[in-house]
Amino acid sequence: MRNVTEETLTDAVLETISKDADPRFREIMSGLIKHLHAFALETNMTKEEWLGAIEFLYQTGKKTTRNRNEFILLSDTLGLSSMVDMISSRGDDDATAVSVLGPFYIENAPFIKNGGDLIADNAGQQTLVKGCVSSTDGTPIPNALLDVWQNAENGKYSNEDPDQDDNNLRARLNAADDGSYSFSTIRPTPYTVPEDGPAGVMLDAMGRHPWRPAHIHFKISADGYQDLITEIYPDDDEYIDADAVFGVRDSLAVSFKQTTSEDTVAQHGLNTPFLTVEYDFRLRPV
Ligand code: BEZ
Ligand code: FE
Repeated sequence: MRNVTEETLTDAVLETISKDADPRFREIMSGLIKHLHAFALETNMTKEEWLGAIEFLYQTGKKTTRNRNEFILLSDTLGLSSMVDMISSRGDDDATAVSVLGPFYIENAPFIKNGGDLIADNAGQQTLVKGCVSSTDGTPIPNALLDVWQNAENGKYSNEDPDQDDNNLRARLNAADDGSYSFSTIRPTPYTVPEDGPAGVMLDAMGRHPWRPAHIHFKISADGYQDLITEIYPDDDEYIDADAVFGVRDSLAVSFKQTTSEDTVAQHGLNTPFLTVEYDFRLRPV
């Protein structure tokens, strides 16, 4: 391997991977090496640019903690997270589309009853969210567990804002025997992804904005079905076609309709007019 050239280097590195290595690991490392080399060649990468990239990754590592993973934010803003989401749900056209988990999920949110309330003291447009959880063939799934979280009117999640209770606008609830669920909340607000680290520097250098359209996050699980992690978005949000992390799918953009139903007001204690969102989730059997 003395006569390494631009033309022979890629194969020389590929040949160093042991034939006994795990086959999937071999496949992934080979792809990575080929693409990295092709990328350097295609862009005529300079030594300074290569060092700049190393420094950028170093800063990304320095910014990362257990609660704030800057690598995931980089993956999100480069569209890699959404690409992997779509690859992993290929051939799943009858299931609800998946969307990014994001960094603000907290496990073990308190349980509310089906039909219960997340509004509490929150200001904002009162909203009733309701629908059904079913299998991809349309069979309702009894008692599916919905884990819901969203931001407050100021754009912040409870774990970013010391003025909110830890579990503000977070809850778990079980759907009914016929798969139906509902809860009252406020209309979520568009917000910016964290900009105070390398991902923010990158967005700025690319001339990109950091905004996400408003959304409500869901993690839905039921025995015998794959967990569904997704979000629903008000379809009239100003950032619906410009999500900084590419999480929006057509099928996840929904209408938050003005409503005045007296029955619902009585049942859920909402102010009129309030908004209603109807959304049915379809889970893929394991
Ligand atoms: C979120 O929706 O919470 C989120 C997703 C990706 C990056 C930052 C935030
Ligand atoms: Fe979010």
